[in-house]
Amino acid sequence: MATARRAAILPERPAPAAYDADCRRCSRLVAFLDEVRAKNPGYRCRPVPPFGAPDAALVVVGLAPGQRGANASGRPFTGDHAGIILYATLHAYGFASQPVAIARDDGLVLDDCRITNAVKCLPPGNKPEPAEIRACNGYLAADLSAVPAGGAILALGRVAHDATLRALRLKPSALPFAHGARHPLANGVVLFDSYHCSRYNTNTRRLTAPMFRAVFDAIAVHRRRGIRGRTTLSRQPA
Ligand code: URA
Repeated sequence: MATARRAAILPERPAPAAYDADCRRCSRLVAFLDEVRAKNPGYRCRPVPPFGAPDAALVVVGLAPGQRGANASGRPFTGDHAGIILYATLHAYGFASQPVAIARDDGLVLDDCRITNAVKCLPPGNKPEPAEIRACNGYLAADLSAVPAGGAILALGRVAHDATLRALRLKPSALPFAHGARHPLANGVVLFDSYHCSRYNTNTRRLTAPMFRAVFDAIAVHRRRGIRGRTTLSRQPA
């Protein structure tokens, strides 16, 4: 139904600036990308664009590209250790055509899902600075601008959660991050929180596969209840 596809949470005009492959706003990140590119000429070393349709009913928000993964491949979580559990779970719930993401040309297609990052450029030590998160926030707002009514946003970690709320002009203090939390927003859109699926979190079992699946179970329940007039609502693990 056309109405169900109308952007639901960022109605204001003008629309936020969309992803810019040539963005050089953050001098520290630009210098780091130049340094990593010089050592690894095969890596993409550019801002990593969102992956998936702009009006997808589920938008997954990560932190920032990993050096040898998304930064190298040019696609979020592709080639990253963090992508192992993410794509396997997206595939199990019908959002990805394959359980493994290794390269931009690996044939993987997302179904009604979009993946993006709070920060588009590789940060040193995987830690973007607050000013860099703010500088990139307009791009995240653009990535979220077509989430349909009844859709879902999945924030991976506190940084992604706070950046998502900032992009939606909401105060992080009003909706604090908690693993497994479900935050209703406008027009039936719900923000779901999970610990980030990083190598550190999965190795230390801060985040386990059953914990991650429980978050996707909640998203599946929301989708079944939340979107009218759609035919692709009943996603269950394969
Ligand atoms: N790769 C990404 O694209 N984002 C993350 O948050 C981690 C790895």
